Amino acid sequence: MTENLAAASGTFALGGDLPVVRLGYGTMQLPGDGVWGPPKDHDEAIRVLRRAVEIGVTFFDTADSYGPYVAEDLLREALHPYADDVVIATKAGLTRQGPGLWTALGQAAYLRQEVEMSLRRLEVDRIDLFQLHRIDSAYSVADQVGELKELQDEGNIRHIGLSEVSVSDLEEAQKTAEIVSVQNLYNLAQRDAEPLLDHCTEQDIAFIPWFPLATGELSQEDGPLAKAAEEHSATPSQLALAWLLKRSPVVLPIPGTSSVDHLDSNTAAAGIELSDLEFKALGEAA
Ligand SMILES: NC(=O)c1ccc[n+]([C@@H]2O[C@H](COP(=O)([O-])OP(=O)(O)OC[C@H]3O[C@@H](n4cnc5c(N)ncnc54)[C@H](OP(=O)(O)O)[C@@H]3O)[C@@H](O)[C@H]2O)c1
Repeated sequence: MTENLAAASGTFALGGDLPVVRLGYGTMQLPGDGVWGPPKDHDEAIRVLRRAVEIGVTFFDTADSYGPYVAEDLLREALHPYADDVVIATKAGLTRQGPGLWTALGQAAYLRQEVEMSLRRLEVDRIDLFQLHRIDSAYSVADQVGELKELQDEGNIRHIGLSEVSVSDLEEAQKTAEIVSVQNLYNLAQRDAEPLLDHCTEQDIAFIPWFPLATGELSQEDGPLAKAAEEHSATPSQLALAWLLKRSPVVLPIPGTSSVDHLDSNTAAAGIELSDLEFKALGEAA
């Protein structure tokens, strides 16, 4: 049965004008081991992406470096021509030297090349949300974000976001361009990004927590969420996602999975409402 499972998470307007359903999907689990090479099961990867749209997911997070290039190619293969409400957020700024290897490169000419290549791979005229994957300390923030601003002025990028930043990085970038989103490591068990999340909530900037399930750790049946999950007739992953959705209206979780079953289960978390007491207790249990 097909149901719009994601809708219950509500919507958020990126940059005030680009609505997405809050519970999205991250494509990093689709390529091979070490986020390198083709998927283990190509057909299942395509099924996951099409199923996500069927069950109401509209926000897809990807990057040139996932594969590299594999995740963007899969998105185009599975979803193009895109439904009107599908929003694809991609990134550049990390180069790949092999499985599990990532090196920042923020040279303006390279960022421009990657935007041009993502436009071609995704087969779009404009990238909905383009995120600087890492700030490269070898170049100034003004140069890196400035190149994205130029690409925005030329019509190639609609909105600009950042990834793995501090509040001061964000403020520095905001001197050059409007920043509509940040993407940082954050989940029930890893909350170093709290100050940034609070800052984003105040400014109505989207906060996209990566590793929302602590790469599966919070999904374990004997993990820290097991007891509460049983009480809710839910899975630990669902509770971890429901907690993120309740944490702030600017949070857009993007759980990653290579399996249709896990996708269905994760997306159903949109319908779980935690009471204030449960929210607090989960925060203390993890
Ligand atoms: N900006 C950055 O630097 C950055 C860094 C990392 C990730 N990201 C983005 O954030 C997204 C989410 O992060 P992530 O995918 O690394 O981590 P995650 O969503 O926290 O966890 C994904 C892992 O959990 C497993 N999993 C998912 N659903 C499950 C379920 N219901 N039950 C049991 N296991 C489950 C997946 O395995 P299965 O495939 O078997 O389901 C996979 O191993 C990525 O896809 C990517 O788009 C961004």
